[in-house]
Amino acid sequence: MPIYPDRFIEELRLRADIVDVVSSYVPLTRAGANYKALCPFHREKTPSFIVSPEKQIFHCFGCGKGGNVFGFVMEYEKVSFPEAVELLARKYNMSLPKRERHSTGAGQGISLRNLYAINSFAANFYHKNLFSKQGRAALEYLRSRGLDIEVIKRFKLGYARNEWDEFCSLARDRKASDKLLLESGLVLASEKGGVHDRFRNRIMFPVFDNQSRVVGFGGRSLGEEQPKYLNTPDTRIFKKSNLLYGLNLARHHTDKGYFFLVEGYMDVIGLNRCGIGNVVACLGTVFGEGHIRLLSRYVRQLVLVFDPDRAGINAAVRAIRLLLPTPLSVQVLFLPGGMDPDEYVGKYGRDSFLSLEQIDGFEFLMETISKKYDMSDLKQKSLFFKELFELINDIENSIIQTGYLSAIARFVGLKDYELAREFASFRKKASIYKDNKRRFSENVVSVVGNLRPKGPEAELIKLAVLYPEYRNEVKNLLVPTDFEDTDLWELWQVILDVDFDIGRLQARVQNAKAAIKPEILSWFNEILFSEVADPEEMIYTSSKVLLDKRDAKKIKVLKEIIRNRSEKGEDTSELLRELDALLKKRRDRIG
Ligand code: CTP
Ligand code: MN
Repeated sequence: MPIYPDRFIEELRLRADIVDVVSSYVPLTRAGANYKALCPFHREKTPSFIVSPEKQIFHCFGCGKGGNVFGFVMEYEKVSFPEAVELLARKYNMSLPKRERHSTGAGQGISLRNLYAINSFAANFYHKNLFSKQGRAALEYLRSRGLDIEVIKRFKLGYARNEWDEFCSLARDRKASDKLLLESGLVLASEKGGVHDRFRNRIMFPVFDNQSRVVGFGGRSLGEEQPKYLNTPDTRIFKKSNLLYGLNLARHHTDKGYFFLVEGYMDVIGLNRCGIGNVVACLGTVFGEGHIRLLSRYVRQLVLVFDPDRAGINAAVRAIRLLLPTPLSVQVLFLPGGMDPDEYVGKYGRDSFLSLEQIDGFEFLMETISKKYDMSDLKQKSLFFKELFELINDIENSIIQTGYLSAIARFVGLKDYELAREFASFRKKASIYKDNKRRFSENVVSVVGNLRPKGPEAELIKLAVLYPEYRNEVKNLLVPTDFEDTDLWELWQVILDVDFDIGRLQARVQNAKAAIKPEILSWFNEILFSEVADPEEMIYTSSKVLLDKRDAKKIKVLKEIIRNRSEKGEDTSELLRELDALLKKRRDRIG
């Protein structure tokens, strides 16, 4: 289901000229009919990043990134498709139509816009309070922890006074309904049927999403009052499993390629105060899939900063396990003396923090697991292997998996192939258990080089895209079973549906959230800028290969049926004749 009406997306796309948008981020120079620039998505010295005003798309021949205007904003701003739409709509003064969503009973009637607005209003209100007379103690406290005004402003820290209804009565004066106030989580229903403020006498840490909108708060008690931290409960715009504190700032510090993941609000602020901006924290929830998804948009690596106590070690192990199958690599850093990062940088400074030893996550995991076993005992050692193999067995990317296997081999002093043998025998047993032989054999086959569409079907699509005059012919030729990759078939269906406006096609695919793999989309972008020397020759050869592939498949199936039948003693003469005819047809075609 589309997120926004297709018509709206189309209008916005036409208004947001790609040259205009891209050049507001990177300087473009003219190159014939196109524009070029140094690619903003990878390091390079000569420009291989091309923008086509005619096709309204961009493509980098260096790193393969490409797409339409939405794709560019998504990549550059690291936002989702709807977020890119919202951003461009704002930029080009188009008001957003309602998103088509399934409304959940609870939130009915309250628009997201109002939820954002009330949170932003609250953040300003609390922030101002911090500088009022009643906020003096809170401000003093923050200063005693080393925060200057600039940092306080950067994080928009605030103070909720020790009153029951200061915020809610002010918000009501501004025409906020009780329903909105309750849904925002900023107020609570009281027994008498009214409402009262959730946060009282607390230092307020607004939480920003990756578009720098306030979506909720953490409130730290000033004294000994419990709990130490009180957070906005989950709302429609505040989902702790999908938010990271500090990400609104850290997203501008991706040059090092990694983020520090720390435990607390004050740690994020403490590191920022000392000039370390690439740091985020979970919001009092455990680290999970949602955080990984979010982080992978920005960095390739995480440095987990934990307490070296039991709880810290367990948390690190948990996080590393979760990260194993993902492309994010992970390091761990344990701070000495039970200090948290905020204390550490306060005491020893930035350089000392940055020079602390970081341990590779998987090494750390092996180290921790090996401590459970007596590694000089053969049987125990094999249990150690088993535990690690179980962790990496399900990793689908074979490059990542092989990397871990080598690491295990190094760790125990075996040769790679010796360990591979252990692993293979483990898998054999595992696959008998789980009866997942199919998956086993698939996993052993390397996935490298398999990602880009190839084969006659890909060639024919390329032709149909570049030369509309061949389109019908290709359309009549291709059937779903010709496709090894169903995503490519999906793409082909969209291509047929959209009638060749490339920009519109891309917008359509993004908006429909069609599950087309990025590799295929990137291939598609590439062919748009490519040429075919001899289209006539290409359609001739490709269709020949295609038909041959079909026959080869048929032959294989036929042979199987014949074998089965003759084993059972049934008559196969009819089938044999068919097989002969097919074999002859193939020979003729090749010859
Ligand atoms: N936390 C929470 N609720 C609590 C305690 C902690 O949500 N009752 C979360 C907060 O996100 C907090 C983090 O866990 O930032 C780490 O807790 P802690 O180390 O106690 O907080 P710090 O941020 O280090 O705060 P301070 O240095 O002021 O004690
Ligand atoms: Mn702390």
